[in-house]
Amino acid sequence: MSGADQSYVTDTLIAEDIDAYLHKHQHKTMLRFITCGSVDDGKSTLIGRLLYDSKMIFEDQLANLESDSRAHGTQGQGIDFALLVDGLAAEREQGITIDVAYRFFATDKRKFIVADTPGHEEYTRNMVTGASTADLAVILVDARQGILTQTRRHSYLVNLLGIKNIVLAVNKMDLVGYSQERFYEIVKEYASFAEQLGMKTFLPIPISGLAGDNIVTRSENTPWYQGPTLLGHLEDAPITATRMQDAAFRMAVQWVNRPNLDFRGFAGQIGSGTIAKGDAIRVLPSGKTSRVKSIVTYDGPLDRAVAGQSITLTFEDEVDCSRGDVITMADAPCEVADQFEATLVWMDEAEMLPGRPYLLKMGTQTMTATVTEPKYEVNVNTLERLSSQTLATNAIGVVNISTDRAIPFEAYAQNPDLGGFILIDRMTNATVAAGMVHFALRRSQNIHWQAVDIDRTAHAAIKGQQARVVWFTGLSGSGKSTIANIVEKKLHALGKHTFLLDGDNVRHGLNRDLGFTDADRVENIRRVGEVAKLMSDAGLIVLTAFISPFRAERRMVREMMDAGEFMEIHVNTPLEVAEARDVKGLYKKARAGNLKNFTGIDSPYEQPENAEMTVNTVELTAEDAAEQVVAAILAGL
Ligand code: ADX
Repeated sequence: MSGADQSYVTDTLIAEDIDAYLHKHQHKTMLRFITCGSVDDGKSTLIGRLLYDSKMIFEDQLANLESDSRAHGTQGQGIDFALLVDGLAAEREQGITIDVAYRFFATDKRKFIVADTPGHEEYTRNMVTGASTADLAVILVDARQGILTQTRRHSYLVNLLGIKNIVLAVNKMDLVGYSQERFYEIVKEYASFAEQLGMKTFLPIPISGLAGDNIVTRSENTPWYQGPTLLGHLEDAPITATRMQDAAFRMAVQWVNRPNLDFRGFAGQIGSGTIAKGDAIRVLPSGKTSRVKSIVTYDGPLDRAVAGQSITLTFEDEVDCSRGDVITMADAPCEVADQFEATLVWMDEAEMLPGRPYLLKMGTQTMTATVTEPKYEVNVNTLERLSSQTLATNAIGVVNISTDRAIPFEAYAQNPDLGGFILIDRMTNATVAAGMVHFALRRSQNIHWQAVDIDRTAHAAIKGQQARVVWFTGLSGSGKSTIANIVEKKLHALGKHTFLLDGDNVRHGLNRDLGFTDADRVENIRRVGEVAKLMSDAGLIVLTAFISPFRAERRMVREMMDAGEFMEIHVNTPLEVAEARDVKGLYKKARAGNLKNFTGIDSPYEQPENAEMTVNTVELTAEDAAEQVVAAILAGL
């Protein structure tokens, strides 16, 4: 069917058409490619030409995810939309806005999915999304304009994403009189940039999308050009899946299939390599080994399976293996680590906060991860490395990442499945960044947790108490320090061993290098959390009094402690009251504009949602509030 009159075609109909279409072409290989170009490079014309000349049967904007939620809705009706837009599932679940249109067409030889990403401001996010599963990229330049800043950016990203097959389509050749000189001038300029990028090869093709030169048939207007046509190249280019078959065997476990006690299979899609019955395998991160007993598929058992196939493996031995684990050959395992160097492409509106815990999703694994300050940020126009404290929207930088547990991985350049990840904000659930692992940091292999015999329970027991962290949070001037101080005196009088960490004091010593930007506050609380944890390991009842304005960091500290050992106390004094008290005169200064980033004025305070206790300092005196807190602590002791 044609693209005409789509308006009254129902979603189901469209879905059925795709299904029928996919079925008809199911035995052809599929090439995924991305087109990148600036506004006016003639991208739409070119795509239209490809669709038209290839006698495309079906055309629709399958997944303009921004305006179109139906991709979600139709999944339940038996249509595998994932086939068209897989790799995006994670982002889609997170509700990220992506402006990528996927078009689908086929020739006698092959079927194609082209991700068309708009060339405007949001290019980074869209390109990363569109290119993440692409086998090939067509970089379009206008022969009259030559290489533009946009061309460089797109090339940088395409190269960063590991796309090996790159076509430099020099378009609008008709408008430069099919000049061979002009063509080679552009090719030479691009070649020198490509070299700087470390891009190994690219294929330049002189074309005209509008006139149809060298799109499907070799043009008589460019007799000096001997290479393939664009479509010819698209039909013959190697696809990543084929390349991955030659790599080492890797399969991430998607789920454990255990229909009855006699069968225990590990299901997933083979990311790379091949596997055969009887092969000796290793499960990572545990490192346990066994042999393949059977390879089960939807269409029956196999002796051998290759990259791209979805299979279920059973082993000869009972080995522990769960979702997120990676199965490899016993003698060729991948690495396992919890600290990495990686490139991050920052996508969120809010800038990156070094030290804040984000969720990291890599393949089928999800974990908590923190990111360090960037080692450097890359100016994608000039390839310069800039020093930077954070990453803003669309910025690209190199950072260290530490995950809360060791995971099996590979360098992205080697295996995008096991080296590509996204970061998700735990509060908003938004995808904030895409990342590519470079390598594990030595440190994570060399620093081990030293097991000690006298542990926190032993330390606490000798003091006749249980270790605790009692975390006061609230606005400046809310009364945190005052109440915490009285609480400590009362506990001390009861013979309890305590220690009070107070914002103003800690900022004179340990954290004197930190100010009040969001990033510094995150780091402030991260350090205080670590210190509180160590002190509680020493068996103390630790009291802390920090504004600690962000839920994410309060939650991070909570998660460092065992259940029941962390007590969050919200000193809930309304802003007007704290401001009226203005014990330190800081509110006045902030209102006058002489103190920046002041909490409650021009810096946010995120109210606790699950505090163990809320104290009201308007109705209670500090003494009474402290009494309540002590009672709660003792009741828990
Ligand atoms: S936090 O936000 O990082 O948790 P913290 O509790 O350590 O803050 O420090 C807050 C104290 O620093 C306040 O009680 C106040 O005395 C002082 N201060 C100075 N500048 C600011 C500011 N811009 N915002 C908040 N507090 C400030």
